[in-house]
Amino acid sequence: MSTGFLNPRQPWKGRRIVLGVTGSIAAYKAVAIARSLTSLGAEVDAVLTDGARHFVAPLSFEGVTGRRSLTDLFSVENSALHINLGSEADVVCVAPATADFISRASQGRANDLLSTTLLATRAPVLICPAMNTNMYTHPQTQENLKHLTDHLSYRVAGPGVGPLAYGENQGLGRMLNPEEIIEEIGRVLVSPSLLTNKVVLVTAGPTEESIDPVRFISNRSSGRMGFAIAQAAYRLGASVRLISGPVTLPDPYGIDLVKVNTAQEMLASVSEYLPKADVSIFAAAVSDYRPRSVNDKKIKRSKENTAYALDLIENPDVSLDTLGDRKENSITVGFALETESILENAKKKLKRKQFDFLVANSAAEVDAGFDVETNRVILLFPGGRCEEVPLMTKHEVSEVVLSHILQLLENRL
Ligand code: CTP
Repeated sequence: MSTGFLNPRQPWKGRRIVLGVTGSIAAYKAVAIARSLTSLGAEVDAVLTDGARHFVAPLSFEGVTGRRSLTDLFSVENSALHINLGSEADVVCVAPATADFISRASQGRANDLLSTTLLATRAPVLICPAMNTNMYTHPQTQENLKHLTDHLSYRVAGPGVGPLAYGENQGLGRMLNPEEIIEEIGRVLVSPSLLTNKVVLVTAGPTEESIDPVRFISNRSSGRMGFAIAQAAYRLGASVRLISGPVTLPDPYGIDLVKVNTAQEMLASVSEYLPKADVSIFAAAVSDYRPRSVNDKKIKRSKENTAYALDLIENPDVSLDTLGDRKENSITVGFALETESILENAKKKLKRKQFDFLVANSAAEVDAGFDVETNRVILLFPGGRCEEVPLMTKHEVSEVVLSHILQLLENRL
């Protein structure tokens, strides 16, 4: 059995990120962005405009990045600071970006360190607007943003809808959350990838099969593995549809999430989307059986009947029943959770369900499988090749799975 698994590659690790901060109340959130990026292994240079310094201090960034925050264009110490920052950056992200900064960037102004760095860099630029709704929807701001995307190939992420500054209500113009911006930076850092603009379908979570209005049959799947896969595929530039059974996880950013309850609903949703999918990953733990009929009233306990037998019928097999719907040349990956004879059972599933590879794990381990953050899996390929992946977080496992998918896509070029 091979253990030469592909190492998961977090996109932020070892990368140089210029984080531009401009004068918006959302500037305080930029400290959290700088902190998270640093803990993900990036080197972050915070560049603050004069406006930003009304809201946050350079020291706040130095405290979380361990690097000097930069503010001045004219400095005796480093006269070519903007050139160095620009040329060494892997990405420049401006978060928050005010209406004024967006306007200056679209005109190619170079009147402070941040705007000058934008002109000096050839790295991708990500702009995260934050402003009042009227300022954002103003035709001038919209034109400026259009110029940035259409003529300068900048990426614009957000704004979202939510509570704005004190005294303003909910509205469009709120900067994306730090976690969402970090995802967008990750997406820029890996771009372009073989998954850029590809359509990916992921199933996740358990299904629930009703017995009566208050009871159902389900399983312990948390959905974490499927959600992590969907997120990793999004980061690689894919357009992702995640079809999930009932889970308690937050809706993942950037992903088209379809919520279903039963195996039949999951089948219907998968059948509709699968013909468009370049890659499909079946990570859901679908109930194999469902009650033949659903009691319309709560089943009561009775003195006469000390036992109650449920009459179950077979559910559709989502991956098997949609075999004919798969797009030609698409890649399909399955999951298998076993309690015994893992390899033997998984090999049969790989063949029967015609997956390109199968991710197998054991339900008997405490730190892998259902409802935990980590997983220890074995990948099985047609022809019998196996790859054992050591214990790692489900996010890291998803990176490994995605790197194999990228490898398959490359082989098919
Ligand atoms: N699967 C599916 N629909 C089902 C059952 C399984 O799409 N009704 C998919 C799972 O998402 C997974 C693969 O098939 O990718 C294997 O699932 P698993 O439950 O391990 O296998 P089963 O085929 O159900 O076999 P068994 O329960 O007997 O182990």
